[in-house]
Amino acid sequence: MDTIKEVKKQEDYIEKVKKINQGKTLQYHILTMGCQLNENDSEKLCGMLEKMGYVRTDNFQNADLNLFNTCCVRENAEDKLFGKLGELKRIKEEKGTIIAIGGCMMQEKHITDKIKESYPFVDILFGTHTLYRFPEDLYKALIEKKKQEDIIDIDGEIYEGLPIKRESNIKASVTIMNGCNNFCTYCIVPYVRGRERSREPKEIIKEVETLAKQGYKEITLLGQNVNSYLRVEKEKGKPFEEYEGVHSFATLLKAINKIDGIERIRFVSPHPKDFTDDVIEAISHCDKVCKLIHLPLQSGNTNVLKAMNRKYTKEQYLNLVEKMKAKIPNLTLSTDIIVGFPGETEEEFEDTLDVVRKVKFEQVYMFIYSRRVGTPGDKMENQIPEEIKHKHFDRLKALVESQIEENNQKYVGTVQKVLVEGTSKNNEHMLTGRTDSNKVVIFEGKKEWIGEIIDLNMISEHMWYLKGNIIEE
Ligand code: 5AD
Ligand code: SF4
Repeated sequence: MDTIKEVKKQEDYIEKVKKINQGKTLQYHILTMGCQLNENDSEKLCGMLEKMGYVRTDNFQNADLNLFNTCCVRENAEDKLFGKLGELKRIKEEKGTIIAIGGCMMQEKHITDKIKESYPFVDILFGTHTLYRFPEDLYKALIEKKKQEDIIDIDGEIYEGLPIKRESNIKASVTIMNGCNNFCTYCIVPYVRGRERSREPKEIIKEVETLAKQGYKEITLLGQNVNSYLRVEKEKGKPFEEYEGVHSFATLLKAINKIDGIERIRFVSPHPKDFTDDVIEAISHCDKVCKLIHLPLQSGNTNVLKAMNRKYTKEQYLNLVEKMKAKIPNLTLSTDIIVGFPGETEEEFEDTLDVVRKVKFEQVYMFIYSRRVGTPGDKMENQIPEEIKHKHFDRLKALVESQIEENNQKYVGTVQKVLVEGTSKNNEHMLTGRTDSNKVVIFEGKKEWIGEIIDLNMISEHMWYLKGNIIEE
């Protein structure tokens, strides 16, 4: 498919909708669920909507258009969507707000069937592979006054040059690859996002250069398997053009590290099995790459990891951590852990606690296993009772919190480089920023510092944030 032509076609639809909306002040509300990739997709949807003349509102009840960008990684997002749709029914009847639902959940037939049956007032359903076509779907919904269902089950294409309205003017996300080929047995992502495909190096570098010119200081590179960037292309012999020496994830980090104006580079989410030596070397040599690395563990037990199809053992994970710690000075780690995967025994769960004790993560994102229709995990017979899952979750949480408390102590009395992000949500007289290791720091300071990296003394720790003080000259 000619993606450039497709994007051009959508630009024409943007103009058409803008014409229909001329003279009206229309508002949109967007609810984004899930990961940073979805947030980045939402920034693109917001970009399109604002070009079509819609203004964003935080009040869904007043919105002329209610948009949902959904996630289906865990069950709680479904409850949230259906709850909100229930609330919107009356608003739809009274005010006729347009309701559009997109994203990962729309790639699941049992969900779209349920929406069509129980919430027939929804106007537009679109999937992960048709996000770029939202202007056309909206135009057709407005003109034809007919429900639009625009969902396809393919591996997706990459559409460059879509409008974008970013959430921040200091930190920006840049999606570098999409999809996943790993098929971890608990995970729905490969089924709803399709196979791995990477953006052209040139497109990424140009986007980051533009962001640098616009004053952005921090870039987060995104991908479901961010460190296997260009791997599939190389394996399958799919053509891509080398640009600024970029032909892998490691060389991409190096090229972005050279871009003036960008001061911090982060990336999520890598897979431990693709954490090759060249990536470790690039992280240690690139001064702008933050030394907090997210390294999803999922389970600390080799049997469970095998059942999860993670392709590494407990020992291999721990060895990788040791190697990284040896080669990357000041390395800190964060991780994802699932408790209650089918068949996980008490002893196997203890292995997860053991790895957490050994690695001493900076941050742990903990999840209770959630059965996902269509995944191998859902068909496994040895599902764990909810009660045990919750008990294990609480034990892991207690361990993680005690470690975070202990770890926080280490910051007190040190000087940290903090990227100042804005005023604190809870106290407008205070500023907030983040350390290289992504810890929130609250401190008193001048608004002019927003967007700068400054040195701060860490004076106290408070579980989820640190308090800082400016260093007096
Ligand atoms: N149940 C619970 N957690 C899950 N994750 C992915 N799929 C599931 C599931 N079915 C978690 C993994 C992943 C993170 C984004 O979400 O830990 O790394
Ligand atoms: Fe899901 Fe595993 Fe792919 Fe991550 S690597 S998106 S957990 S299948």
